[in-house]
Amino acid sequence: MSLALWPATASEQAAHIDGLFTGLLVVTGLILLLVAGLLLLFCIRYRRGTQAKRGDLPEFLRRDVELGWTAATLFLALFLFWWAGTLELRASMAPPEALEIHVVAKQWMWKARHPNGAREIDALHVPRGEAVRLVMTSQDVIHSFYVPAFRVKQDVLPGRFTEMWFRPTRTGEYRLFCAEFCGTQHSRMGGMVTVMEPEDYASWAAAQPQEQDLPGEGEALFTALGCAGCHAPASAVHAPVLQGVYGRMVHLADGRTVRADQAYLRDSILQPQRDVVAGYAPIMPSFAGLVDEADLQRLVAYLQSLRGEAAR
Ligand code: CUA
Repeated sequence: MSLALWPATASEQAAHIDGLFTGLLVVTGLILLLVAGLLLLFCIRYRRGTQAKRGDLPEFLRRDVELGWTAATLFLALFLFWWAGTLELRASMAPPEALEIHVVAKQWMWKARHPNGAREIDALHVPRGEAVRLVMTSQDVIHSFYVPAFRVKQDVLPGRFTEMWFRPTRTGEYRLFCAEFCGTQHSRMGGMVTVMEPEDYASWAAAQPQEQDLPGEGEALFTALGCAGCHAPASAVHAPVLQGVYGRMVHLADGRTVRADQAYLRDSILQPQRDVVAGYAPIMPSFAGLVDEADLQRLVAYLQSLRGEAAR
């Protein structure tokens, strides 16, 4: 049950976020009442013309009591920090088995691609009860993917992948908005998220036209761009072998260690000089300008598909 003022509660996170919101409201409300009450009390007690003096301040203002409430406030603040922090942490880490859907934003529409190649525009079908991870990018300006019923919102940026995940808990249709001003049609940029029972989602996805073999197209591009010339295991050029790289921790020349996720792979194609792998010469040229957003998705999908071949 939720207050009529609030949007529907249709994801696992939504209930937690509403709980935090209510908690913050109650805590801050109580503090407001306490401070306003004391203010009123002092205004009356120490008003002009009364006999009360600073010497007879109430008992509870003595030093030990003051220390006590300083500590209480500190612990209260730390508790709120912990509460919000753990929620934020959980919201930022998608479960590994999450269904991965790619979203591309452009002025002024949302395009989605499902794992089996099914595509849709200004609509998103998702299965109830399953974790859904969105990997998003923009073709032009900054947009923001916002589904109030799920209590999730994430900026979508050109030249970068951003991620977000949720687990829908109730079937139905929920509004999708763009929450970042992106041009004249910004207010109309939106759509519907449809939460279906998993069986219904499976049959829906199977019924969509299956046009694309993204990893296959990525492999063709990988060859056409000449990537294989250096990155093939047998190549004379000393370049990192990409089999099984996806998801692995990579040590960089500057001492950092990063996970080779989609964003890292994408950046490595566009800005190879930025995150040079330890032990390798910074000789790879940038492919920015040579590949577009769709090509990057194909290439990254291909690299991801090499995951299982690490053992060979
Ligand atoms: Cu897209 Cu506002």
